Parts: sequence; C-alpha cells; structure tokens
Amino acid sequence: MDERSFREHIDRWESLALNGINEGGKVECEMDGRIKRIIFAGMGGSGIVGDFFLDLAHHYSFPFDIYSVKGDYIPFPVSSEDLVVLLSYSGDTMETLSIFNQVRETARVLAVTSGGMLLSLSMASPPACAIKLSKGLFPRLDLPEMLYAVSSFLSKNFGIRFLSRERLLSSLSAFRLDLREEVLNAARSIFGYFPIFFASRPYASVALRLKNDLSENSKIYSSIEIIPEAMHNTIESLWKLRNNHKIFFVAGRHAFGDIFVRAFSEVLGDRIDKVLLRGDDLISELIYGYRLSAYISLELSSLSKVNPVKTEAIDRYKMSLKKILEEN
Ligand code: PA5
Repeated sequence: MDERSFREHIDRWESLALNGINEGGKVECEMDGRIKRIIFAGMGGSGIVGDFFLDLAHHYSFPFDIYSVKGDYIPFPVSSEDLVVLLSYSGDTMETLSIFNQVRETARVLAVTSGGMLLSLSMASPPACAIKLSKGLFPRLDLPEMLYAVSSFLSKNFGIRFLSRERLLSSLSAFRLDLREEVLNAARSIFGYFPIFFASRPYASVALRLKNDLSENSKIYSSIEIIPEAMHNTIESLWKLRNNHKIFFVAGRHAFGDIFVRAFSEVLGDRIDKVLLRGDDLISELIYGYRLSAYISLELSSLSKVNPVKTEAIDRYKMSLKKILEEN
C-alpha cells in the first residue's frame, strides 16, 4: 500500500463503518444469560476500540461494567458472566492471543479480527464467536469497521438504545464533514513541537488516538495527560519543561461543564491550544476526533517527509517477540 491509497482508505471510512454496522448486526452468537462485565482486550490500533467504549461508559449508562485491557493478561478471574471482546485486526498479536488462551474456557468470547490465529482458534472453540473484518487493511485504517461492528453487535444482543441501528446510521454523517481547514491549522500548529495532549473523559480516546497516529504515521513523539489525574502530578513539571513542547486540550462540548476542566483551564490559561470536536452527539464527536487525528498525522507526515505506511520498529518488535516465544 502506498501513501495515496492509505489516504484514500481514510476517505472511505464511512463505507467501512457501514460495513461494520451490517456485519456486527448479522453475526449469530449465543448471548443468553446475564452479562455483568464486558472486557475489551487488544493492542494499539485494535485495542483503542476498548478506549472508545470506556469513553461512552463515562457518558451513557451500559447495562454492564466496561473494562479495557492492553496487555497479555486479565488481572482478575473471569466467568460465564463476562464477555471478553478480543480485538486484533491481524489476528496474530501475541498479547491478544495470550488473553484468548486465558479466558477461552471460562468466559464468553467474541473475536473481532480479519483472520490469523485468533479467527482459527475462535472457530475451533465454540461457543467463542467472531466478527470478520475486511481484509487487506492496516489495523489503524480499519478503526471505523471495528467500532461500528462491535457497537452494532452490542445493540442487537443487549438492546442498547444509544447504539441502535438508527443512531449508528445517523452518526455516519460525521464522516462527511469537511475537515481540511482544521487539519491544516492543527498540523501547522503542531509541526516542529512535541505536543502534549490533555483530555478528560469522555474524550480520552481521541487524545490517545492522536498520540498513536502521530507516532505511527508521522513518526512524531507526543504524550497524553488525563484530567483530573494530571492535575495532581504532571502540571507541577510543565513549567520547567525546556524542550519545544506545546500543550493541546482535546475537548467536545461535555468537557466544558466539567469542574476539573475549569480548574485546569484556570491554572494553564492561555498556554493551551484547543482541539475542539464537533458533532451532535458523543459518538459523532469521537468519530470527528479520530478522523481529524488521521488527517493531521498524514499532513504532518508529508511536512516531515516520512512514510506514514511503514511501521518498521513495531514490525521488528513483533518478530523479536515471536522469536523469543519460539525459543522458550
Ligand atoms: O496500528 C497498528 O498497526 C498497531 O498499533 C497494531 O494495531 C498493534 O500492533 C496490534 O496489532 P493487531 O491490531 O493486528 O492486533
């Protein structure tokens, strides 16, 4: 895949989202009986789906608890009252496969993948079931399909009103907003700096996505800080930072009624640049943020003359991990 087709895939995100709505609503899995917790597990571009649902859980009320695990192990016992949603675009991520092995006999399992070991293992371990994603993409390019497929699955099986098919279809208009001006302004403001993205719930997943897109696509290091926690530690050292950093506050309209955000703004005042998320509801605001993040990172990759498609260090890490596992 070259740089141009990478961008074209992002331009077609709405159709991937629609595909996700249809696929997630079609898949047949045994989901009777009570589910008390949903645990999302996955890494990087796939695992961020768990952060999306955590943001939703900070605003809407789900009929179960939501957890997001980024690693190879769920640090508590799981049972048949837990649904573990394993997210791996490739289906071959070691950390996610390790969680599959941990939970396959005790919890309900839904695999969300385009193939790999995760698909074969879940097919061979009924009642584990799977949502199959479009093939031939990168995890970070398939974000809308993953998000909407899982949302549609949850809506169909648990009757969640704020994720109904109508609500999901109506949120697709967020993919049609023209972001060119915001993208250029933000990219120009970030270029040449180390950005620090501050956010509060329910927008933390957008800050995380910005950090990851800037790293993977633009090869720019940035960091994220979550309000209010960062106000109890990080802010003490911000004054002393000598490097070329810049602070961005990532926020939608629910952030501005938040007392912690108000105190944050009073302390940092005019040292903050804002990344404002537009949308009629939270899902639309988050989609707006993920699109903005993707396009800003592409703009920055072209300003820095780097290839957004290649992720050589991540690939090397995966190969080393595989080798270490095979040797042990
Ligand atoms: O965006 C990426 O390419 C990475 O962050 C991957 O998502 C991560 O390495 C996990 O791979 P996968 O999504 O295939 O499980």
